[in-house]
Amino acid sequence: MPLIDQSVIEEIKLRANIEDVISSYVQLKRAGSNYQGLCPFHSEKSPSFTVFPGTSSFYCFGCGAGGDVIHFIRRAENMDYPSAVEFLAKRYGIPITLDKKEQAETARRERVLAMNKEAARFFHQKLFEPEGAEGLRYLTEVRRLPLPLIRHFGLGFAPNGFGSLTDHLRKKGYTDSEMASAFLCGISQKTGKPYDYFRNRVIFPIIDVRGDVVAFGGRVMDDSKPKYLNSSDTPAFKKSRNLFALNFARKSETDTMILCEGYMDVIALHGAGFSNAVATLGTAITPEQARIFARYVKKVIICYDADEAGQRAAAKAFALLGEVGVECRILKVENAKDPDEYIRKFGAGAFKNLMERSRSEFDFKLEKILAEHPIEDPDHKIKALEESVRLIASFPSPSVREIHLHRIAELLGVPPDSIRRDVEKIIRGRIRKDRREETRQFIRQTEGYGDRINPDFVKNPGAASAEEAILGILLLHPELYGQLQKSDKPLQADDFFTAFGKKVFTAFAERIDDPTFESGMLGEVLSVEEMDRVAELKQNRSRLQNTLTVLRDSVARLRETSGRREQSLEDILNQKRRKKDN
Ligand code: GTP
Ligand code: MN
Repeated sequence: MPLIDQSVIEEIKLRANIEDVISSYVQLKRAGSNYQGLCPFHSEKSPSFTVFPGTSSFYCFGCGAGGDVIHFIRRAENMDYPSAVEFLAKRYGIPITLDKKEQAETARRERVLAMNKEAARFFHQKLFEPEGAEGLRYLTEVRRLPLPLIRHFGLGFAPNGFGSLTDHLRKKGYTDSEMASAFLCGISQKTGKPYDYFRNRVIFPIIDVRGDVVAFGGRVMDDSKPKYLNSSDTPAFKKSRNLFALNFARKSETDTMILCEGYMDVIALHGAGFSNAVATLGTAITPEQARIFARYVKKVIICYDADEAGQRAAAKAFALLGEVGVECRILKVENAKDPDEYIRKFGAGAFKNLMERSRSEFDFKLEKILAEHPIEDPDHKIKALEESVRLIASFPSPSVREIHLHRIAELLGVPPDSIRRDVEKIIRGRIRKDRREETRQFIRQTEGYGDRINPDFVKNPGAASAEEAILGILLLHPELYGQLQKSDKPLQADDFFTAFGKKVFTAFAERIDDPTFESGMLGEVLSVEEMDRVAELKQNRSRLQNTLTVLRDSVARLRETSGRREQSLEDILNQKRRKKDN
């Protein structure tokens, strides 16, 4: 059942200009009546990503991603179907009408957000009341935060009672279960009554890019444990997809962000004028967070704690950020345990200097190698050389490799030429390995193994390709469906052999009577990958003539072949060999 009123989707399709929407993500160049650019969904050097304004669709001839504007947003923003619709509706100022279930969920989310805002206000006010004196003293005197900074971040204080916040929120009309769902209270197992989750702690509200208070962190004011309590995931919040202070940092006009470990580090940095600092929410950086960085900036300076755990975490962040194409540098604070303490001790100017001296990935890793293998010792020197060679080989650019190579040559007193030979040997080996892997993958793909979307394909390729033709044509020309079904044996889901075919056909048949039908609607029930496959099926048949004839033939062929027994692996391989011999 469609969740969002179809008229909204229709209006989005009407108003959203696909090349406009996509050009916020991809640089498009005109190519005839279409547009081309580098595909945002796989890495490529020559553009195979094409936008077709005529049919309001896109398709990548390289990776097979394709579909309508909603599908594009779904992929580019990593959203589910309803969120993508909402996203576009917002952009074009189209009011959304949702169905009942969806309405209830949105209402619940909005209630939690309103309640969080009320709680944040409550905590902040308490800080300036007699009850919160200890909290204010902690922030201003122990942590040396000036009042404007405390206000800027909306810091607060949770009093030491069990009912301070819960009583307040109940008076405002929030129910116990609402408070519990937002982790603002716990429910006592003995009495079944709610009690404040945050007690006698200073409070750090976590605010998302829309400006909503989505969660809280609370810190004790002494050495007791646990040092921090953080909200768990709620209907309105996912830790792994948010960053502390991103609401401010995304507005700072630079192509760089500073990534720290703690709330206090971020606050100290903002106080010192570095408003591009953010932190993860008490966890190691996630791939989703890495993508957030990639969306906003080109460079990230990783500025973790000086201890070993901090440095290990930094190496992980390097890897994740590198994968999404963000350039990383690493900054290690000296004579202080973390950026917060460093700034308090040495000031903003000193930190700026440190930033300028932040090290590249190469320097960071080289230092680690040299720390593990003191080169005064001959055995260690050989180990250090071997690891340095591997490190150099990990850089794709030959000229960058040359620069690093000369550094190592000088450092270890080895001729550059011999290091270069070692590096090249590693690279040659890797290319050979890549080729082998590529061949293996190719074989797997052509044989249909590893087809995650339609794993049944390989069991009966004849039937499955007939299905593909049927679905591709029907989705491309839905108007043919009526004619096809005017027969004593109309096409049914049960005619389909593969589970994928059944699923797509069912989704199609359930929606085709809607006068506004178009294939993008299948996104309500199909995954992003399944929708890509649907786009591929259509794309492959976009130039087909005699569509009705092919359609009818394919139905006949499907019925003829689908009854056959499932093929064994043996059969398939034999079939392939026979084909090759012919
Ligand atoms: P200070 O010790 O006050 O300087 O805090 P900090 O913000 O610098 O924290 P720290 O570097 O110790 O830890 C980094 C982050 O990990 C914190 O901001 C919290 O989000 C999280 N964290 C630290 N301790 C705990 C804990 O005991 N429990 C949980 N859940 N998270 C913690
Ligand atoms: Mn700290």
